[in-house]
Amino acid sequence: EKKGIIFDLDGVLVFTDQYHYLAWKQLADELGVYFDEKINNRLRGVSRMDSLEIILERYQGEPLNQVQKSELAEKKNEIYRNMLQQMRPANVSAEVRSCLKELRRRGFRLAIGSSSKNAKLILEKVDLLGAFQAISDGTNINQSKPSPEVFLKAAEFLRLEPEECYVVEDAKVGIDAAKAGGMIGIGIGDAATYEKADMKVNSFSEILSVI
Ligand code: G6P
Ligand code: MG
Repeated sequence: EKKGIIFDLDGVLVFTDQYHYLAWKQLADELGVYFDEKINNRLRGVSRMDSLEIILERYQGEPLNQVQKSELAEKKNEIYRNMLQQMRPANVSAEVRSCLKELRRRGFRLAIGSSSKNAKLILEKVDLLGAFQAISDGTNINQSKPSPEVFLKAAEFLRLEPEECYVVEDAKVGIDAAKAGGMIGIGIGDAATYEKADMKVNSFSEILSVI
């Protein structure tokens, strides 16, 4: 029997994926690198530095060293964090809030499992910090998805076994990570059409009927 649900953040609870896209786009334009929404889909669930490597696949300039790469990642993060300042509780839908409430009422322990180092800032901005019993994010992991590390940590923080947890994800690598960790992967958004997802939902509230 399942006792916990681990939610990815970006693209599942909040639509910061558009801000990620715009911030990477700005950096890519400055570097003269082609970047579009399709490439952006490959960045879902991927850490900041790994995302930069994907952007740089099309980079034609002089090779960049680690210091320069860190500076570029930092620059993207500054643009992104400036965009995050606009976030408000209204950026979380009534559907998401009431669904989380219903899941808590049904006795599930809820956690965040996000690769982002900005997860707590976002949760605070949209007033969702109190909705979760545990937060596992980019600040407590060494490997990003598809490694199951972030979800295994979330289960541990909830004091549950991985097998007792569902994972809700919009990233294909996130579904892979959930399965690698022995959890049930529920695909939403971009992952709602992923053949490896154990379950697929077309809306957030549909989670209530599949679990
Ligand atoms: C999430 C997003 C990714 C992002 C990653 C790191 O997983 O889906 O697109 O690259 O977090 O985010 P950060 O806020 O730490 O740069
Ligand atoms: Mg996501």
